[in-house]
Amino acid sequence: MNHWVELDKRYFMDTGHRRLGVTLVRGEGARVWDEAGKEYLDFIGGWAACSLGHCHPVIVEALREQSTRLILATLDVYTTPQIELAEMLISTSGLAKVFVCNSGAEANEGAVKLARKYGKLHLNGAYEVISALKSFHGRTLAMVAATGKPEYQAPFTPLPEGFTHVPYNDLPALRIAVRERTCAILLEPIQGEGGVNVPTEDYLQQVRALCDERGILLILDEVQTGCGRTGTLWAHEHSGIRPDIMTVGKGLGGGIPIAAFLANERAACFGPGDHGSTYGGNPLCSAVAAAVLRFILKEDLVGNAARVGRYFRERLLALQEKWDIVKEVRGRGLLLAVEFTRPVALGMARVCRDRGLLINPIPPQTIRFMPPLIITMQDVDQAMMIVESAVGQVSQVTASSEGA
Ligand SMILES: Cc1ncc(COP(=O)(O)O)c(C=O)c1O
Repeated sequence: MNHWVELDKRYFMDTGHRRLGVTLVRGEGARVWDEAGKEYLDFIGGWAACSLGHCHPVIVEALREQSTRLILATLDVYTTPQIELAEMLISTSGLAKVFVCNSGAEANEGAVKLARKYGKLHLNGAYEVISALKSFHGRTLAMVAATGKPEYQAPFTPLPEGFTHVPYNDLPALRIAVRERTCAILLEPIQGEGGVNVPTEDYLQQVRALCDERGILLILDEVQTGCGRTGTLWAHEHSGIRPDIMTVGKGLGGGIPIAAFLANERAACFGPGDHGSTYGGNPLCSAVAAAVLRFILKEDLVGNAARVGRYFRERLLALQEKWDIVKEVRGRGLLLAVEFTRPVALGMARVCRDRGLLINPIPPQTIRFMPPLIITMQDVDQAMMIVESAVGQVSQVTASSEGA
């Protein structure tokens, strides 16, 4: 057994990760290298966080510059990078107020706290949040309760109460689920971890209308879909609606830990002492996020995600035409998935890895692509050569040896 694998097994809790088994030591742009010097095209992209690719000069320079000035202050004082970041988030989202924090789960926790306070103030104490089956909102206890995956919940019961689930993209089910005690609906504009599930064209518009009709809040979790990933800066722009509360993370920091939740004037009901975070909005991460967002906008990486994503999707659809084992292609921009007719996700990811491409398996039968927003059509061509040869190889695997 490799030295690092042995140490990893000895020291880390066994949460079932390291499924691709490589030890990465360096990254640049859309490429990473392992300790033996083997190069990979990285289409996992830090689970959609590495929006500018690895070690982008803009991030390196922002880190260097800010780390020589001021790394951490507290929420008791003003810092300039945080204000610059807040200004960009507010002006691009059309929302009114922001709280900056450290992870997607924490942003969603804050969003739910805000919705509960809104329920206390304006909805006779309503506190329940409706979210979707197959959703993913993070790993804290409340976010495990919000996440619509029973297998993530069972080991940790009893979970915080006040969460209920309906099938995604099912408006009648949502309509029935809204009751007196509902304060908000929490949805991903496209479900990421759940297998890249894109709702029908008017779903979000109808959910928006339902929330308005019932006077409850719409929270959109854009932790994975935000910051240009789907070909618009915020994925809800595809539907022409605006949430009351939006959470962002991942691509915002381009690889450093930062996230935020934003709200419109009506929903932004926190008062002094309601929320806080030691590291939330620290100058170092805020400076990097501001630089990342500025770069995404200036270089039109949103447009690049739309264009290259469209090309990538066409190439995947051509794959589906050619191979019976490809059941469906889903997604938008640079958040794409392929579902197979058989449980070959892990096998696909490992064959691709051996041939120099990292992709994300969603077992049993879906693979997901979340490359950096800087990728080119040539990168897609290179990836597709590998994907196609891997499809050829896994197609020949007998059903009995799959999924191992
Ligand atoms: C939609 C969504 N929300 C929340 C999270 C949790 O983010 P984090 O891992 O930063 O807590 C994720 C992570 O995959 C996500 O995809």
